[in-house]
Amino acid sequence: MSDQQRKILVTSALPYANGSIHIGHLVEYIQTDIWVRFQKMQGHECYYVCADDAHGTPIMLRAQKEEITPEALIARISEEHQADFKEFSVAFDNFHSTHSDENQWLANTIYESLDNKGHINKRTIKQLYDPEKEMFLPDRFIRGECPKCGTADQYGDSCESCGATYSPTDLKNPVSAVSGATPIERESEHYFFKLGDFEDMLHKWTRAGHLQTEVTNKLDEWFEAGLQEWDISRDAPYFGFEIPNAPGKYFYVWLDAPMGYLASFKNLCDKSELNFDEWCQAGSDTEMYHFIGKDIIYFHALFWPAMLEGSGFRTPTAIFAHGFLTVDGQKMSKSRGTFITARTYLNHLNPEYLRYYFAAKLGSGVDDIDLNLEDFTARVNSDLVGKVVNIASRCAGFISKRFDGKLSKNIHDQTLLKSMVDANKTIANAYEAREYSKAMREVMSLADKANQYIDDHKPWIIAKEEGRDEELQAVCSMGINCFRLLILYLKPVLPVLATRTETFLNIAPLQWQDAGSALIDHDINKFKPLMTRVEKEHIDAMVEDSKEDLTANATEQVVARGPLADNPIADEITIDDFMKVDLRIAKIIKAEHVEGADKLLQLTLDLGGETRNVFAGIKSAYSPEDLEGKLTVMVANLAPRKMRFGLSEGMVLAAGAGGKDLFILSPDSGAEPGMKVK
Ligand code: 2FM
Ligand code: ZN
Repeated sequence: MSDQQRKILVTSALPYANGSIHIGHLVEYIQTDIWVRFQKMQGHECYYVCADDAHGTPIMLRAQKEEITPEALIARISEEHQADFKEFSVAFDNFHSTHSDENQWLANTIYESLDNKGHINKRTIKQLYDPEKEMFLPDRFIRGECPKCGTADQYGDSCESCGATYSPTDLKNPVSAVSGATPIERESEHYFFKLGDFEDMLHKWTRAGHLQTEVTNKLDEWFEAGLQEWDISRDAPYFGFEIPNAPGKYFYVWLDAPMGYLASFKNLCDKSELNFDEWCQAGSDTEMYHFIGKDIIYFHALFWPAMLEGSGFRTPTAIFAHGFLTVDGQKMSKSRGTFITARTYLNHLNPEYLRYYFAAKLGSGVDDIDLNLEDFTARVNSDLVGKVVNIASRCAGFISKRFDGKLSKNIHDQTLLKSMVDANKTIANAYEAREYSKAMREVMSLADKANQYIDDHKPWIIAKEEGRDEELQAVCSMGINCFRLLILYLKPVLPVLATRTETFLNIAPLQWQDAGSALIDHDINKFKPLMTRVEKEHIDAMVEDSKEDLTANATEQVVARGPLADNPIADEITIDDFMKVDLRIAKIIKAEHVEGADKLLQLTLDLGGETRNVFAGIKSAYSPEDLEGKLTVMVANLAPRKMRFGLSEGMVLAAGAGGKDLFILSPDSGAEPGMKVK
């Protein structure tokens, strides 16, 4: 229980405004949200803010591709993100955007302050430029041959084959992934932040308890290499903020991204009574924490504190980095159906299952965590349904039927209750230290004790014996009090279960200090099931749906190779590889909608004597009646794939960017079903 009220500002990394939230992102949002809920339950003044990370080239290009303004794109994605977060109970006190007035003010203020103190440098650099699209190309929009090993189709900064890192100007035969043009070298003046000016400050700061030990150790490598100047400008066309007094030059997205934390908080302050300066100026005695993934440590533990220090703002109290998510021991994969978006998850499963599972796995370090889908099912069912909720369902019926919902006037087992109450300190310490897996183990061992108590006292037997009513009421009330404490301890992780329980128990929202009291002579409501079991079919359907997304995209990507920004030419194959693919002319003899599938049509294809059933992701572009009778091209020897809707026995070829812009390939007249395509 809290000693003194603290003032705490908490953030999670800002999601890019051009993609969906997926379960990998959710590790961080759930981790942060649990910590924030815990702090609020302690009675601290705590604010959790976030925003969309809205600037940069990928967002500009995506908007162009969709033929909308970047503003329209980021507004749509912001709604999508906020809906996902809400359903996962990730409860921001404010969600804003880096493309906002507050952020522009911060970017200008911080930049001008750094510039006035001589921390900004200007110099001319050479970069690859796309003469067709008339823009400088970021590294990831350039493809070419690795200068070291010669592997084709590598990104502009590193080779996936030999691991070499290089400058994009070193790539052989470079191609712009935006237009397909051959880039040329061009000079341009860039603005640099002189990170080296902060070497002493950062050296001390990174060793002063603001970082996890493993993070400090990792940063040593950077200090050893010497802190380089950081290029903070990009040339037009760019979606971002123009640099003051530098027409045509924009702040690089990573400059104003972390400022978005403060911009969101400033937006909150302006809507409420909060005083931004009190929280954010240098010398503030409030606390500020950033939860981030381990891949963006460099930005948060070096650039960000240096920029804040150099411009008179407070520096973070701590940066909490976490590891990545694997699913069934491997990187999330679209083909395995383990690249699961928040929305697909929500279409199939209760978000609280995932919140609990992540909590049961998370520690305070930067280790990766694994979502093992079998273990997920077993653990949620055994811990939450089997152990915790079961306590209430074993006791509540007797209380409502035999005692009109009234709990006993006395505590049946003071020793057990005391041990459960005393555990609150260990559990609180574990939450505070972000050792959630430890907190969950503690809670589950208390649940075991409570179940053991019920097993020992067997209310179902007492209930059948005459004259033991008082004992029955006392035992069941004891069970309910144990249940209440377990839910209180789980509330940061399972807010929805906690709210339902508060309704069932007829009590005010639980705070941490309520652990010291018990429900005595108190009326409770009728018990309704609080949580159902995870069913394997739902997991399977979620995985299938995640594959379905790919099937729809795969149809676009298999043949739509071309100079599209996000659709680069695939790795080279040999003629032998190509000969393995058996392409055939097929006649679409039937086309139907598939119930429950957003993107698929079910096609019956005649291959000249043989019919095939194929699910094709072309619903966005075709109605079934447009297709019947048409000839097309299919991959006839693709291994059949079991989908939720049935077996798919091949793949139809189509080209285009997606959506309405998707065209199935058709042969010239004279082609017959079954003919081999050569
Ligand atoms: O890596 C990312 O997804 C970034 N959008 C995170 C930004 S965090 C902060 F700096 F804004
Ligand atoms: Zn290479």
